Parts: sequence; C-alpha cells; structure tokens
Amino acid sequence: MRGFSSYLPLWVTLLATLCQCYVAHPPLSSLSDTSSTSIIKANTKTLWQAPTTPTWIENLAIRSSTRTIIFSLITTPEIYQLDEEQNASLLFQFPNVTSALGIVEIARDVFAVVVGNFSTATASGTLGTYSLWKVELFDDDDETSEDRVVASKITDIPEASFLNGITLLHPIKEGKDKLATVLISDSTLGAVFKVNTNCGTYEQVFDGVSEMLPPKNASIPIGINGLAVHKGSLYWTNTEREAIFSIPIDPLTGFARPNATVRTVASKIGIAVDDFAFDGDDNLWTAGGNTVAMLPAAGDASKTGIKPVIVVGSESSLTVAGSTSVRFADASLLYVTTDGGMAAPVNGSVVEAGKIVAVDLASSF
Ligand SMILES: *[C@@H]1O[C@H](CO)[C@@H](O)[C@H](O)[C@H]1NC(C)=O
Ligand SMILES: *[C@@H]1O[C@H](CO)[C@@H](O)[C@H](O)[C@H]1NC(C)=O
Ligand SMILES: *[C@@H]1O[C@H](CO)[C@@H](O)[C@H](O)[C@H]1NC(C)=O
Ligand SMILES: *[C@@H]1O[C@H](CO)[C@@H](O)[C@H](O)[C@H]1NC(C)=O
Ligand SMILES: *[C@@H]1O[C@H](CO)[C@@H](O)[C@H](O)[C@H]1NC(C)=O
Ligand SMILES: *[C@@H]1O[C@H](CO)[C@@H](O)[C@H](O)[C@H]1NC(C)=O
Repeated sequence: MRGFSSYLPLWVTLLATLCQCYVAHPPLSSLSDTSSTSIIKANTKTLWQAPTTPTWIENLAIRSSTRTIIFSLITTPEIYQLDEEQNASLLFQFPNVTSALGIVEIARDVFAVVVGNFSTATASGTLGTYSLWKVELFDDDDETSEDRVVASKITDIPEASFLNGITLLHPIKEGKDKLATVLISDSTLGAVFKVNTNCGTYEQVFDGVSEMLPPKNASIPIGINGLAVHKGSLYWTNTEREAIFSIPIDPLTGFARPNATVRTVASKIGIAVDDFAFDGDDNLWTAGGNTVAMLPAAGDASKTGIKPVIVVGSESSLTVAGSTSVRFADASLLYVTTDGGMAAPVNGSVVEAGKIVAVDLASSF
C-alpha cells in the first residue's frame, strides 16, 4: 500500500512521469523504453466513477456474452454491471457480509464471487466470514426489462481469513452444465483454495508457502493477492513484499508439480502489486501503487528479476488512484478498477470515489 520506493531505476520513475503527462494529454503519441525497442502508447478514459466517496471497487470480470463489465465493491457487499451506455446497475447485494471481492466468469453468464467481512480501517478480513457465491444472469428478451439475476451460495470456507483474488484453474466451457474450477487466494494465511463450483467441495492446494505469506515486517498483513494460471504455472502477486512469483502446477489438480520450485518473476517492484492479467504476448500487467505496470515477458519461465515499466498513472496522480485490478477486453483495451486512494491516499491525503478506467493500448512490443 506504499508508493514507489527510491530504489526504482531513474528511467522507470521518469517514464512514469512522462506517461502521466502523456495520458493526461491525448492524442496518441509514443514513448520509447530506453532498455529495448518497445513502444508503449496508452490513452485513458474514465468509463464510470462511483457517486459517493469513499467507494472501493475491488475487482472486475468481463461478461463473455455481452462484453460488459461486472464489478465488485469492498465498501458495500455488491456487484454491478456496467452497460454500453456506461450506466452501472446493481446486480446483487450479498447478505450478512461487508464486502464483495474477487469475481470470475465460471460459465457463460455465470460468475463466482468471493464475499466476506473486510475492514477497510485495518485492511484485514474476519476469520470465518468468507464464502463463495454463484451469480447467474439471464437476458430477458423483452428489451425494456433488466437482466434477471439468480444468486446462491456455492460454499462457506470457514477456515479462510481473508479470501481475495480468484482465477480459473481451466478455461470455461460454453454450457452451464459444467462450471469451472476456481483457485482463490487467502492474503492473510498465504494460502490458495481450490473450489469445485459445481458441488462446492474445496481443498487447500497451497498452504503457507513462504512466497505467499505476508512478510513478517509488513505494516498490513497482505501476502498473496492476485493470481492467474498461465502456461502451466500459477502466478501470484505478494502485495506487501512488492513481488511476483510463479510455480509449475499440475493442470488437473492445481497442486505444485513434484519438486517444483518457486520462480521470482519480479521483486522490489516498488509498488504494492494487486490483481494482474497477461496479454497475448506473455507480458504481465498489474494494478498497484496508483499505476498500471507492465512486466515484459513475465510468462517466459526462463526470466527472473524482471523490471516493471509504468504504463499508466504515477504515485502522485489520480489517473488510476488506488488501482486494484486489470482485465483485458481485447488485445489493446485494458480495464482498470480503483479504490480512489482509499487504501493508501494519494500524497497521503487525497481520496476520490473509485472508478473504472479504460486504457487504450495501441501497443507493439
Ligand atoms: C441506469 O440504470 C438504472 C437501473 O437500471 C435506470 O433506472 C436508469 O434509468 C439508467 N440510466 C440511464 C442514464 O440509462
Ligand atoms: C460480518 O458482517 C456482517 C454485516 O455487517 C455482520 O452482520 C456480521 O456480524 C459480521 N460477522 C462477524 C463475525 O463479524
Ligand atoms: C452471518 O454470518 C455469521 C458469520 O460471520 C454466521 O455465524 C451467521 O450464521 C450468519 N447469519 C446468517 C443469517 O446467515
Ligand atoms: C522488510 O524486510 C525486508 C527484508 O529484510 C526488507 O527488504 C523490507 O524493506 C522490509 N520492509 C519493511 C516495511 O520494513
Ligand atoms: C524429487 O526429488 C527427489 C529428491 O531429490 C528425487 O528422489 C525424486 O526422484 C524427484 N522426483 C521427481 C518427480 O523429479
Ligand atoms: C501530489 O503531490 C505532487 C507534488 O507536490 C503534485 O504534483 C500532485 O499534483 C499531487 N497529487 C494530487 C492528486 O494532489
């Protein structure tokens, strides 16, 4: 939850500053990454901002059938859909919890949502309050009516302390008869739960791996946060360690492969890395530190100690203040959610309402 640290190379800091100016002043031009021939172009546009401050938007998923954004709030236990007119409508409010967190599509028009009690004051979860829900959306043919929403609990996960990120173990199928298996991070326990969303059975596939635990000296106990399966490996951010790791996993069970070792994809990133996504070229894009940062070729298993490139925002800007997650709509369109600086106010005091920002990446690497 801190900003950039002083050990970032000067060019990264410079790039951040330049990008910020650039982003604030369209039209498109380009920036050269001095370490390679990379060209990065990024225009941003706020699609929606919450009407009240503070509002912490935690995560989003892109609905495959309509390409609309479904997003979750931590400040109220709710999920919304942002329609083509950029109007956000409430889909569901979860009972008896404070917050909605990770969200992922587990079959066409069916979403799995992590919910539980989370205190924004202490940035910690309450043991025994977390569960996974299923939210199914039905398109009504009548154009005047809204989507019909059917929500039900998949399972409680009483041993969880702070469930946070969620991802698919396998890609989703077209039909609703077979829902995808998900992996969920617990940021306090430093654990990963696997849940069969068809029947609600679950087990821990990682438990107390040191690279998943919050660092002992962390001001806030947040270890593993965002997670994703990419090319046979599980990738995750460790927020307070400001690092990204991966380990080869069995594609069927989600457990680490025998004798597999943890790869340090990037360390000393200098920002409190949160949720992330891979593009089609193996680059990893992560939210955190009021920015979107890109780690070139992070999906290449031979690479370690990758240096991040700040593409959007900066420590002191509001462009994506309190960035919490990113998802690709297509190869050159990235959506970003923010908490508006609620977790870590910009310049120590500035907080705005959380928002959803579109980043146009007409980029070539
Ligand atoms: C936005 O959606 C709400 C709820 O569906 C609806 O009441 C409102 O009229 C919509 N606003 C616009 C501008 O479309
Ligand atoms: C969790 O939050 C809900 C909603 O605020 C509250 O009613 C419930 O008592 C909380 N549970 C615990 C264990 O704190
Ligand atoms: C509300 O959640 C608490 C755990 O936080 C649980 O003990 C209680 O049974 C729940 N109440 C209802 C009505 O679901
Ligand atoms: C925590 O300890 C690590 C390793 O000794 C160090 O790099 C890091 O700066 C420390 N962080 C804090 C917040 O003290
Ligand atoms: C794992 O390592 C052990 C000890 O080095 C070795 O005996 C075993 O064959 C290895 N297993 C695999 C599947 O590589
Ligand atoms: C934060 O402080 C810097 C340096 O004074 C300033 O340029 C920037 O505009 C401030 N950001 C906000 C959001 O006020």
